[in-house]
Amino acid sequence: MTRHPPVHTAARGPELAARVASLRTRFDAVRARTRALAAPIGAEDAMVQSMDDASPAKWHLAHTTWFFERFALMAGSGCRAVDPQWDFLFNSYYESVGPMHARPRRGLLSRPTLAQVLDYRDVVDDRMRAWLDGPTPPADLLDIVELGLQHEQQHQELLLTDIKHAFWSNPLAPAYRADLPETPAIPETGTSGAGMRWIERDEAIVRIGAAPWPQAAAFAYDNESPRHRALVTAHALASRPVSNREYRDFVDDGGYRTAALWLSAGWDTVQRRQWTHPLYWDDDHAREFTLGGWRTLQPDAPVCHLSHFEADAFARWAGARLPTEMEWEQAATGLAVAGNFADDGRLHPHAGDGAGLRQMFGDVWEWTSSAYTAYPGFRPWPGSLGEYNGKFMCGQWVLRGGSCATPRTHMRASYRNFFPSDARWQFAGLRLARDPA
Ligand SMILES: [Fe+2]
Repeated sequence: MTRHPPVHTAARGPELAARVASLRTRFDAVRARTRALAAPIGAEDAMVQSMDDASPAKWHLAHTTWFFERFALMAGSGCRAVDPQWDFLFNSYYESVGPMHARPRRGLLSRPTLAQVLDYRDVVDDRMRAWLDGPTPPADLLDIVELGLQHEQQHQELLLTDIKHAFWSNPLAPAYRADLPETPAIPETGTSGAGMRWIERDEAIVRIGAAPWPQAAAFAYDNESPRHRALVTAHALASRPVSNREYRDFVDDGGYRTAALWLSAGWDTVQRRQWTHPLYWDDDHAREFTLGGWRTLQPDAPVCHLSHFEADAFARWAGARLPTEMEWEQAATGLAVAGNFADDGRLHPHAGDGAGLRQMFGDVWEWTSSAYTAYPGFRPWPGSLGEYNGKFMCGQWVLRGGSCATPRTHMRASYRNFFPSDARWQFAGLRLARDPA
């Protein structure tokens, strides 16, 4: 991280004072939002880990707190850990910080209790506020506070996707929030392809990516930079994501039984895991499990909870392909970051309308055909935080646009999410692209 010289209150310029005030306000809001997301979850729910990839809600609550404690308070002000043993429990993957508890065993942590973790949050919050309000503002570490807020927003989404998987894994199928609005049932009178247009673009050299932060004022992860030129060949991009109705056509057409549609590793995965439909659909393809419990499958809503394998196979069946991340970003650049985000409170994708390019942001993450690799000239952040993104650039694919579980203020056109080919517990769907005939 870039280090700014320490600045005392008396020397706080208006610019620095405004930055501290903004961070202080956002700190309160983001920390409160995480607590609110965890409010419907009981202590027993909060320690469930339903698979290796998912983490218990309690762990998310603690780990996001540990991030501020370890990288801001301890590194910046010499503050002592609330409990030094928790460094081991709540370090996720920072090898340079020290050893860590194995990820698949996070569900074994009945201690500390949920109450202790919530107390931990309160103590660290108080220390952070005192530090931000203090006579010696942590000007050299404000960047870490910004990163901690962005990090916590990522975990807010994971908290939702992980508790959804945990509740789906429970035969009682509890709802995270039974009060979530039921989408009005849409009569099965629509048709596949309705409301979808192909938006054609000529070959072009485009600028993608973000200027490196924190040298640039606007936050972006290190994996989004440097901003650079890329060749985008002539193509057409679908005006909206693929719908449940269209995906159901693929299922009904034997998509999961046709080897020719799948990448070899995908076909192997389909066989081994006996996939026959998206993760949360029932076997009749009439209902799907949501954060509000089992609900009627909405034909015109974007299909979600697909792996990269399934998105890729669907695209091949449809005579199309997945877009590259460059094609996606070219189309998204300049659009308002608006859509169905977590802030809207639906916590599920919903049908849109309008014939133009739509739902680029929110609803579902969109799988791309781009491998998650370094941009030309990529430099990880220095120090431990260089482990944040760069070391995962192997065997994963880029997703774009955010979902109905993403905080709106966390998203931007250059944002690169990434998951392995078989991951499907995220709100991930697809938008088609195709080459000129
Ligand atoms: Fe994390």
